Amino acid sequence: MCICLPNSQKFIYLIIKIIVNPTINKKLKFHNFKFNIMNRACFTQNTSLYRVLGASCIRPIKNNFVRMNIKISALLLLALVLCSCQPRHKLSISKQSWGQADGKEVSLYTLTNANGMVVKISNFGGTITTIMAPDRNGKFEDIVLGFDSLKQYQKGVPYFGALIGRYGNRIAKGKFTLDNVEYTLATNNAPNHLHGGIKGFDKVVWDATELSGTDSVGLVLTYLSKDMEEGYPGNLTSKVTYVLTNNNEIKIYYEAETDKPTIVNLTHHSYFNLTGCKESILDHELTLYADSITQVDSTLIPTGVIATIAGTDFDFTTPHKIGERIANVRRGYDHNFKLRRQGNGLMLASDLYDATSGRLMQTYTTEPGIQLYSGNFLDGSLTGIGGIAYQKHYGVCLETQNYPDSPNKPNFPSVVLRPGEKYTQLTIYKFSVK
Ligand code: GLA
Repeated sequence: MCICLPNSQKFIYLIIKIIVNPTINKKLKFHNFKFNIMNRACFTQNTSLYRVLGASCIRPIKNNFVRMNIKISALLLLALVLCSCQPRHKLSISKQSWGQADGKEVSLYTLTNANGMVVKISNFGGTITTIMAPDRNGKFEDIVLGFDSLKQYQKGVPYFGALIGRYGNRIAKGKFTLDNVEYTLATNNAPNHLHGGIKGFDKVVWDATELSGTDSVGLVLTYLSKDMEEGYPGNLTSKVTYVLTNNNEIKIYYEAETDKPTIVNLTHHSYFNLTGCKESILDHELTLYADSITQVDSTLIPTGVIATIAGTDFDFTTPHKIGERIANVRRGYDHNFKLRRQGNGLMLASDLYDATSGRLMQTYTTEPGIQLYSGNFLDGSLTGIGGIAYQKHYGVCLETQNYPDSPNKPNFPSVVLRPGEKYTQLTIYKFSVK
């Protein structure tokens, strides 16, 4: 039974209470009372049943009032309650066993906020498997691509919902030089290095600790990437904290420290689909608060040129459907946008809107760039939660990050982390409707 009722349902709740309370019921029968069901004011007082009864709501009525049999009314209204009642949700986090990887236990955590929004996160890859978000009618649907079982992620999927590290995006030819030492990384996206290598942070088991606050719940994930793991120097301790707030925000705090100079560029790789994964993302309207992109070559490595995009197919400074000009972009969008920022603070980076459902997702970040990836390499061969085949452009990634190939581009913001320094970044995905 609902405990917290919207004002419009207080009347229904009152009647149900009367029916199940023999004393009141008897008293009402005895006095042959009738209800003034039109007198809504009584029920917007948010008072207890007895205070309502003690007030003017139940009283002998005059001819212009509707006469009703209380029990029959209650049965009809019970049906209405069952259809329309919106239960209050408890802010919570729970954990279930989800298998094993690398000889370690893997869990799936379910975070629920007071509005009923649900986010499921595994400590395998720090992967978000599910985000249940409401549409403008309050209907909750999963708005990210994902899978039910750990096995599917272990088989290898293109970074669905995962944490990406040590270096998100590409490094040309898998090589970079730091303090006059050249390092060689896997060229797992030939001819380049992509998303941390063969076994990046998306495929490792993170240590997890649950967090509970008064208006949020969270999961703290930590991972020690050993010196020279995937070819990167330094023991790097990364800590990523996911927080689900009662404001329908998913906050992702990134922190890292090293014992030798290294490079770091962490990001998150959810494929969003605000239709509830019912249609492609081509009709999603996107605004990016960016005036230029890092121009890329045919292997998606930046040329070093920061190109202004005003009036081009990349200009999302005003809302455009992702599909509107995508045919003009070779393979689709897979580009880093240089955010229009002043200082290093948190800024609004993008608005993503689905007019059919009314869902709006806003991305805030402290990062200098955002990679817009329109799911170009999805081809229907992966079937996710709910048996949905993920076709081309079925998800859109908005990966907040430093620029691709920064270690080889002196004119890009530095990604070097030295001992004694702390890497900190914050990204927020905020969900609402309009
Ligand atoms: C990133 C890259 C894309 C692609 C996807 C995964 O977003 O930029 O080119 O590799 O990951 O398929």
